[in-house]
Amino acid sequence: MSETSLPFNEKYYPSNEKISSGEKRKQEWEKSLSNPEEFWAEKAKAIDWFKKWDKVLDDSDAPFYKWFQGAELNISYNALDRHVKTQRKNKLAYIWEGEMGEVRTYTYYQLYREVNKLAKVFKDLGLKKGDRIAVYLPVIPELPITLLASARIGAIHAVVFSGFSADALADRINDSGAKLLVTADGSYRRGKTVAIKDNADRALESTPTVEKVIVVKRTGQPIQMKEGRDIWYHDALAAAGANVYVEPERMQATDPLFILYTSGTTGKPKGVQHGTGGYLVWAYWTLKWAFNPTEEDIYWCTADIGWITGHTYNVYSPLSVGVTSLLFEGTPDYPAQDRWWDIIERHGVTILYSTPTAVRMFMKFGEEWLNKHDLNSLRILGTVGEPINPEAWKWYYRVIGKERLAIIDTWWQTETGGFMIAPLSGIELTPLKPGSATFPLPSVKAEVYDEKGQPTPAGTKGFLVIKSPWPGMLQTLWKDPERFKQTYFGRWQNTYYTGDYAVKDPEGYFWLLGRADEVLKVAGHRIGTVELESALVSHPAVSEAAVMGKEDAVKGEVPVAFVTLRSGFQPSDELRAELIKHIRNTIGPIATPDAIIMVNKLPKTRSGKIMRRVLKAVIVGAPLGDLSTIEDEASVEDIKATYEDLRKQLTK
Ligand code: WT7
Repeated sequence: MSETSLPFNEKYYPSNEKISSGEKRKQEWEKSLSNPEEFWAEKAKAIDWFKKWDKVLDDSDAPFYKWFQGAELNISYNALDRHVKTQRKNKLAYIWEGEMGEVRTYTYYQLYREVNKLAKVFKDLGLKKGDRIAVYLPVIPELPITLLASARIGAIHAVVFSGFSADALADRINDSGAKLLVTADGSYRRGKTVAIKDNADRALESTPTVEKVIVVKRTGQPIQMKEGRDIWYHDALAAAGANVYVEPERMQATDPLFILYTSGTTGKPKGVQHGTGGYLVWAYWTLKWAFNPTEEDIYWCTADIGWITGHTYNVYSPLSVGVTSLLFEGTPDYPAQDRWWDIIERHGVTILYSTPTAVRMFMKFGEEWLNKHDLNSLRILGTVGEPINPEAWKWYYRVIGKERLAIIDTWWQTETGGFMIAPLSGIELTPLKPGSATFPLPSVKAEVYDEKGQPTPAGTKGFLVIKSPWPGMLQTLWKDPERFKQTYFGRWQNTYYTGDYAVKDPEGYFWLLGRADEVLKVAGHRIGTVELESALVSHPAVSEAAVMGKEDAVKGEVPVAFVTLRSGFQPSDELRAELIKHIRNTIGPIATPDAIIMVNKLPKTRSGKIMRRVLKAVIVGAPLGDLSTIEDEASVEDIKATYEDLRKQLTK
C-alpha cells in the first residue's frame, strides 16, 4: 500500500453509533500521559487485588518498567471467582463450537469448577509457582481451562500454535524449559484428523525438561501413550475429584503470566514475556474501550488461542470483563462457505472481531453466501493482524455492517499485550476512515519517525514508535533481557520501536503500512524471513536462500523463496516439493512458500550481502531503477544480468 493513494479525506459515520469530535477521547489520552499513576490507579479499581500496590509505575530501571509494583493478585481469580460470587455465576462464559458442528457451553461457574480440578492435577504433579507449562492444543475448551489453571497455581504458560511442526514445538519447549506439556490426541482440519500427538511425541524426543504429558481426548484416533510420562486429561480430572477448590496463588503484579513465541528478524523466535498486573489491567480496559461489551453481548473473536489475539481477547479480556464469548475450532469455509454466517445467526453473535484476510476471502466467495443468513444480531465489527486495505474495509462496512456498524481496526502486536491504536466506541467514537486504525489509546504516545529519529511531517511515511510506557507492554524477552533492550529500545533512546511503517494524516489519524523489517504477515500470521531461510539452508540440497514477501490479493502477502543449490543438485519439481515438505516439517504449514525459485546465482554486494531490493524488484516486476547508489557495492552489470535472469525464470 502506498501512502499517496490512501483516502485521507473519506469519512464514515456508522448509524448505529454516536459519533463525536473526539474531545473526550483526547482528554482521556492527555490525562493518561500527564499523570499516568493517577490515571491507572483509578482504572485499576476494576480489578480485584489481594494487596494494593506500593507504586503504580516504577520506571527506575527503564525499559524494564514495573507496573503496580508491590501489588498482589491472581488472574484466574479475576476471570472466575469474582464472577462466581455475583449474578454472573450462571452466565455463559464460553459457547464453543467444534469443527464437526458439536456445541459445548460453560457457565462461569462450570468453568470455575473445571479450572479448579485441573489446577489440582497440576499441583498433584508437583508443579509450583514459576514452573513453565507448554501447551499444544487446538481451539477446544480445554485450552482456556489449561491457561486459567496454570495462572491459578502461578505457573507460566507457553502456548505453541497447534499448526506448528514438531521441530518448532521442541525449540519453544526447550527455550521455556517447560516441565509439563498439555496436548491432545489429535485435532480436526476440514473434517480430517491431524496427528498432533505424533508431532508432540517427535518433539519430546529432544526436550529433556518435560517430565509429564497430559493428553486431551479430542478425536479418539489411535496414539501412543508413553508409560510413566503420558496421562489422559479425563483420567487425571476424574482422579482430582468433582468439587475440589485450589486456593489461587498470590502473585506479584510483576510476576510473569506467560511466554509467547513470535518471529523477529533473526532465525530464533522471541519469547515475549508478559506479566500479571499490568497485563490484566490493559486486557480489561482495552476491550471495554474498543468494543464496550454489555451483559447481553455474544462476543466472537475468531483468532486461535495459539496467538496473542486469542490469549488476550479470547481468554483474559472477556473473562475478566465477564463477557460471553464464542470459541470456534474450525475454518471459515468448511463444510461450506457460509459457516461463519451460520454461526453468527445460530448463536446470535453481536460483536465480530476478525481479520482482513478473512474479509478478503469472503469478498471472493461472494455476497450470496451471507445473504442466506440473518446477520442482524451484529452490532459492531473489528479487525486485526495486518493492514486492512480501503477496498476490504469498505466491503466489510457496507456488506456485513450495512453502513450501520463501526469497524474497529485494532493495531497492536504480541509485544504490546493489547490494542494500541484503534477507534474507541467505549469512550467516544470519532469518524472512521477506511483503512485507518484512527488514534492511539490512553498511555500510548505514538509517533512516526524518519531514519534519523525525527517526527515526519503529516502525510509522510516513516517508522511507528511509542514514546511512553503502557501497562500491557511486554516485560522482557524470556531469559534474554539484552535482546529485549536491543530489539525494542536499541534504535532510539526511551523509544519503543514497533518494526512497522506508518503515516499520520493531516488530521492526526494513523494509517499502518506493514512491516519495516524482515518480518512477513502472511494471512495475518507473523513469519520471519530469516527463519524461513534457515529452514531452507538446513536442507542438504540448498546452498543459499533469500525469502521475500509478495503481495497477495487475499493473504496480504505470501513468502517467495529464491534458492541456489549445492553442486550435485539440479532444479526440479520434485526437489521443489521436497523443500516445501521440509519447511512444513521444520516450521509448519503456515510458512509454506508460494513459490520456490531455483537460481544459479543471487544478486550480492561485494561484501557478499544478498541485495534484497533487487529481489523485490524481480518479484513485483518493477524496473531495477537507479543503481548508482550501489555502484561501489557490486558490479552494476552483474546485478542487471542476474535481475534479467531471475525475471525470465519467474515469468516462465
Ligand atoms: C504485527 C504484529 C496483534 C494481534 C495480531 C498480530 C501487524 C497487527 C494490525 C492492524 C495493520 C497490523 C503489524 C504488527 N498488525 N494489527 N490493525 N493494521 N497492521 O500480532 O503476530 O505480533 O503481529 O501485525 O505489522 O507489527 P503479531
